[in-house]
Amino acid sequence: MTQENKCQWWHDAVVYQIYPRSFRDSNGDGIGDIPGITQQLPYLKDLGVDVLWLCPVYRSPNDDNGYDISDYRDIMEEFGTLEDFDALLEAAHGLGLKIMMDLVVNHTSDEHEWFIRSRASKDNPYRDYYIWRDASGYAEDGTPLPPNNWGSEFGGSAWEWDERTEQFYLHMFSRKQPDLNWENPAVREEIFEMIRWWQERGVDGWRVDAIGTADKPEGFPDDPYQEPGRVTSSMRFVNNRPKVHTWLHMMNREAWSRGGAIVTVGELSGPTPEDGVLYTAPEREELSQIIHFEHVSLGNDPRFDKWSLDRPGLVELKEVLDSWQRGLYGKGWNALYWDNHDQPRAVSRFGDDRPEFREASAKALATALYLQQGTPYIYQGQELGMTNVAFPRIEDYRDLDSVNWYRTVVEERGELSAREALARVHARGRDNARTPMQWNARAQAGFSGDKPQAQPWIAVNPGYPEINAEDQHGDPASVLNYYRRLLHLRKGPLREVVREGTYEPLAAENPSVYAYRRAWGGALLVVAVNFTSREVECPREVCAALEEGEALLGNYEEATTTSVLRPWEARVVLRGAPEAPEA
Ligand code: GLC
Ligand code: CA
Repeated sequence: MTQENKCQWWHDAVVYQIYPRSFRDSNGDGIGDIPGITQQLPYLKDLGVDVLWLCPVYRSPNDDNGYDISDYRDIMEEFGTLEDFDALLEAAHGLGLKIMMDLVVNHTSDEHEWFIRSRASKDNPYRDYYIWRDASGYAEDGTPLPPNNWGSEFGGSAWEWDERTEQFYLHMFSRKQPDLNWENPAVREEIFEMIRWWQERGVDGWRVDAIGTADKPEGFPDDPYQEPGRVTSSMRFVNNRPKVHTWLHMMNREAWSRGGAIVTVGELSGPTPEDGVLYTAPEREELSQIIHFEHVSLGNDPRFDKWSLDRPGLVELKEVLDSWQRGLYGKGWNALYWDNHDQPRAVSRFGDDRPEFREASAKALATALYLQQGTPYIYQGQELGMTNVAFPRIEDYRDLDSVNWYRTVVEERGELSAREALARVHARGRDNARTPMQWNARAQAGFSGDKPQAQPWIAVNPGYPEINAEDQHGDPASVLNYYRRLLHLRKGPLREVVREGTYEPLAAENPSVYAYRRAWGGALLVVAVNFTSREVECPREVCAALEEGEALLGNYEEATTTSVLRPWEARVVLRGAPEAPEA
């Protein structure tokens, strides 16, 4: 890291991700909204987070819950108004919290004015805002054939035929999400200007959606990974091409760097840690951090990709996380996450959500990840140990990705029975993360506050009487209070060693224990976590390291120093840290 870029404010910050539709409903229509977020700010402040990342709140027809934007400069009707947004910003800033918005600029909605104009004729000035191509030919019955074999992320061809102008447009996501043409300088200028507009309103940062897809392979050649007759997503072919870096640098120079101390985190699928350095090295002036998918893609299915029932092994998981720690050390910066709005709940996938292990494993996962170097991201409800949900019928699901995939494998291709496909949706579907936030044990988990008769847009997870914020608030042993303690330590005695410390994996080959040692100045931090639901013998190397410091944190009420780690036990020891600056 270059000297002047050392220690940015976001190196010590913790980000909390909000999915506004499912966070808090203030007016009883069953849909979370911006005033609902404003009401709950004290809860977030109390948790100890610094930045709130809001999933998209812009005007949208909601084909993909706001990731299909029809107006970048207005708020989705169900979520409130620009005045509500300004009020949220002001209230958040008043509490010392920053706001990061989702920046969805790989594509717009097909209902965006630019696209409506673009599709009106072949020679209008907006035509080149999107990617239009002629048919590659015509089938015997006259059906136009797409320009190439690319598959969209949400199923089927990535090309949609437009009758009026007789060309195809490209959509890497749903057909209601046409891809913008980043090659066109007018498109880029519109986007940069829009970013500056929000920054002038007071926005503090951006989570840059699907940006790795902006640069398309030159000449639009066929995707070599496709199997004939079975279209799958072409993301891995399209992602992470060279001009993504060029355009990020431009966006940084033209927009982000003009907004004060803006933080940016790019969503990029498929980068290596070497790519991660290119994206986040301060001297390259691209992004502050990236969100990659390597750890959450472990155990994917050879045939059904993310729709897998397999559980990743711990050795592989450690290899991936360790490679990012080592790869970015001193060069770039990591974003640390387990959960988000596209992933199943980590406590169900990587932990053990059975009642006897749920709390310990939720705390164990947080301990293992958030004491690594990088900026922690906590997704709403994760701090309560919220779990996956298993709705009985596909009709109970709202996520277009899950519903499209289910229809394709069950109805179109007959590759899986309804029951088999549903089991995979239960394991990996995005709605696991999108059920309403569980505020209390009253009707609908308190999602609509004092209007409990409201029907939420998606059913609540039936686990809410056991798992909710109100009950956990007063319980010192709760997951919520453990998160508070962990974040507090991170900001206090662990601050420097967590931010700057070297990272050395311990017992890397051990299939049950995740352990590492971090050192900085005179301080030494050791983290050891049992990643199984049984007692395990602590590896000798780990035990020895644990003896080097004083116990600082653990997820069992009675601390022990024996060589047996209890199910999902996490131990953190510290030696020689400076005094905590403030309590
Ligand atoms: C990102 C978002 C996801 C969305 C997609 C298309 O992956 O996280 O929710 O569906 O981009 O915008
Ligand atoms: Ca509402």
